[in-house]
Amino acid sequence: MTGLERTFVMVKPDGVLRGLCGEVIGRLERKGLKMVAARLTFLSEERVLDQYREHVQKPFFPSLKSHIMSGPCLLMVWEGHNAVSVVRRLVGATNPSEAVPGTIRGDLALDTGRNVIHASDSPESAAREIALHFARTDLVDYTRIDEPVLYEWTE
Ligand code: RTP
Ligand code: MG
Repeated sequence: MTGLERTFVMVKPDGVLRGLCGEVIGRLERKGLKMVAARLTFLSEERVLDQYREHVQKPFFPSLKSHIMSGPCLLMVWEGHNAVSVVRRLVGATNPSEAVPGTIRGDLALDTGRNVIHASDSPESAAREIALHFARTDLVDYTRIDEPVLYEWTE
């Protein structure tokens, strides 16, 4: 199948502490995406710098870093057709006040600095972020039982 992609998704500490991991996972699962890896962990400073390297010089970076290190993050890899752009749309705009209702940030958050979730913004970022947080052997190979009805190509 063309367009099968993997993307990196992270429930940030505000989402974990608010008990929103299940809500996030449920939305991605119901869309038809397949979870292929997951780990709940605190991120080291080094890992945060690497994860958000394009933002290190920005004024909001110190508060972003301290928030991400303030509690556990749920790190995940999700797979599906066009997974990178599909998940970005499900996540919604960076500022939850502007995020469209129906999106994760549009439904579940109010503040840019507490916007519940991170998702890779391109296939290149996804490959880099997946490799940053997971070993190849962490990625689980299995078939969702609903795949024959999820995708036309299986007919
Ligand atoms: P993310 O990387 O977390 O998925 O979010 P994003 O692509 O929608 O937004 P991005 O521009 O990459 O920003 C990364 C995170 O930094 C915080 N931020 N704060 N105060 C600010 O102006 C500001 N801008 C960004 C947010 O937590 C954002 O998700
Ligand atoms: Mg980003």
